[in-house]
Amino acid sequence: MCGIIGYNGMSNAENILIKGLKNLEYRGYDSSGVALMNEDKIHIVKSEGRLAFLEQKLKSKNILSDMGIGHTRWATHGKPNEANAHPHTSQDRKFTVVHNGIIENFPIIRKELEKKGYKFCSETDTEVIPQLLSYHYHGDIKDAMQKTFVSLEGSFAAAILCKDDKDTIYVAKKASPLAVGRGNRENFISSDVGAIAEYAEEAVFLDDGEFAEIRKDRISFFDFNLKEKEKEFLKIAITPEDLTKGKYEHFMLKEIYEQPEKIKNLLKSKIKNNKIFLDEIAELSLEIMKAEKIYIVACGSAYHAGLAGKIAIEEMCRIPVEVDIASEFRYRNPPVNEKTPVIIISQSGETADSIAALRLANSKGSFVIGIVNVLPSTIANESDYVIPTKAGREIAVATTKGYLTQVCALYMLALHIADIRKTLTDESIRFYTEELLQIPDKISEILSDTSEIKTLSQKYSCKNDFFFIGRNTDFAVASEASLKLKEISYINSSAYPAGELKHGTIALIEKDTPVFALCANERLFKKTLSNIEEVISRGADVLCISQKGQIDKEKYNALEIPHCTDIFLPLLEIIPMQLFAYFVAENKGCNIDMPKNLAKSVTVE
Ligand code: AGP
Repeated sequence: MCGIIGYNGMSNAENILIKGLKNLEYRGYDSSGVALMNEDKIHIVKSEGRLAFLEQKLKSKNILSDMGIGHTRWATHGKPNEANAHPHTSQDRKFTVVHNGIIENFPIIRKELEKKGYKFCSETDTEVIPQLLSYHYHGDIKDAMQKTFVSLEGSFAAAILCKDDKDTIYVAKKASPLAVGRGNRENFISSDVGAIAEYAEEAVFLDDGEFAEIRKDRISFFDFNLKEKEKEFLKIAITPEDLTKGKYEHFMLKEIYEQPEKIKNLLKSKIKNNKIFLDEIAELSLEIMKAEKIYIVACGSAYHAGLAGKIAIEEMCRIPVEVDIASEFRYRNPPVNEKTPVIIISQSGETADSIAALRLANSKGSFVIGIVNVLPSTIANESDYVIPTKAGREIAVATTKGYLTQVCALYMLALHIADIRKTLTDESIRFYTEELLQIPDKISEILSDTSEIKTLSQKYSCKNDFFFIGRNTDFAVASEASLKLKEISYINSSAYPAGELKHGTIALIEKDTPVFALCANERLFKKTLSNIEEVISRGADVLCISQKGQIDKEKYNALEIPHCTDIFLPLLEIIPMQLFAYFVAENKGCNIDMPKNLAKSVTVE
């Protein structure tokens, strides 16, 4: 995703912008650029490729400036090259803009402006913004902003410099995240509050339909009718160690090893009288009692967390649960209402499809429980109730602790709901709670010796196609395990319900086809074992993931995990799969923290 950074203060703007853009690199990008205000001239420097090229160019220009904006571009319209890199300017060079989002009606706007003699020099949708600002500008910048941004359809987080006001950065926001950070006589903007956490003490996210003026000593907020409004700044809960790899080679490995502590802290924060109690939804008892069905809606790994959560909520709360991919849910017209709460799961809180699903659910009278890691964020701000997953900042694009804390939060929610609806006895609730509290140590046990997984990764790194099969909780984990391998090692893989394979896909199994058979679920172990035999008889090279002592290791290749009650197995079973994907990607020399084509937060459709 594109990244925006802005600085207005007393220090060297170039250094702060470059550092901020480096903190945004994890989002994925293909070009970058900055605009620096110096006296009443705006200096623009852009470069294709890595940030280092931009830094090189800037060094040779030695621009002194204390105010500027910067951008990393993840191409949506127009090739990833220097001409299409941001910032973009109006042809009179009066306005300079960086933008994150998609201007859906840019073709018609561009055609109208070209008829009026405006010349464009890029293929981007973004370039219509500075040109339109210039067209509407007759001396009043805010007036030009209002006329411009109310005419744009789609999504934008935009930062603007105007040659006629060398003291202010202007911003506008609709459906694409933008945070404003406040420091001591210096102020910041960023697509991601983590990118400015080392400079700003507190921050606030703009809401849709808002403008802001960012000066050195004052920040003002307006709605799109230019009515001034107050906004509450929140302390930025990100620590500097969140932003460093420490002793680890990659952020992903660091975040894998943070999982025991993150799960422990999440659980401890919600245990009262030996029971899970989610105070965030304490007032929800009546609605929960009336709930006839629950929807879980998310994308990617968050969707896979939902698959695990469904099993627990249905089992413990006896409510039907439908798990849906947000980009499908939002365009279906689902029959949601006040009796069908919707759970939106999102690590970043800024995934465009999940935001749209949230708004659709609200528009149909349903209430939304957001299970979110980044606060503040759009999904956290717009959910009726929020359960923070407290994973801390997650830098690696491939989520690990973000996913695991989502699964844990869903189990906690299931226990809370079961307690309200009395669908579990107190004794069962105590049993499940105790089981959960033992999980962190069991994760640590798996992490304490990864040699077997590392050795296996060497054997399989040259393979091209993997299958991950499993039933029930094992299939939920197989789905996430397959995505992890694909997104960081670029090896094709697919996850399949073990019982479904024989309905066609088994035709693909041949000699030495690698199949990960996740069979830790005790209740269904024998069923999955027969599916393992099916693929072995067709020549597959099977590696089982089972609980200790569950499978005959003389007969089957198996990685074992500590014992755990079936329903919570995803919290353990995914760990060796995360590590396997990591080691394979490392063997292949892949860019593990920033895989090609991927972005940490997909803020466009
Ligand atoms: C997971 O490794 C991916 N980075 C991706 O699937 C991610 O889970 C998905 O884009 C949802 O992101 P969110 O949790 O921030 O909404």
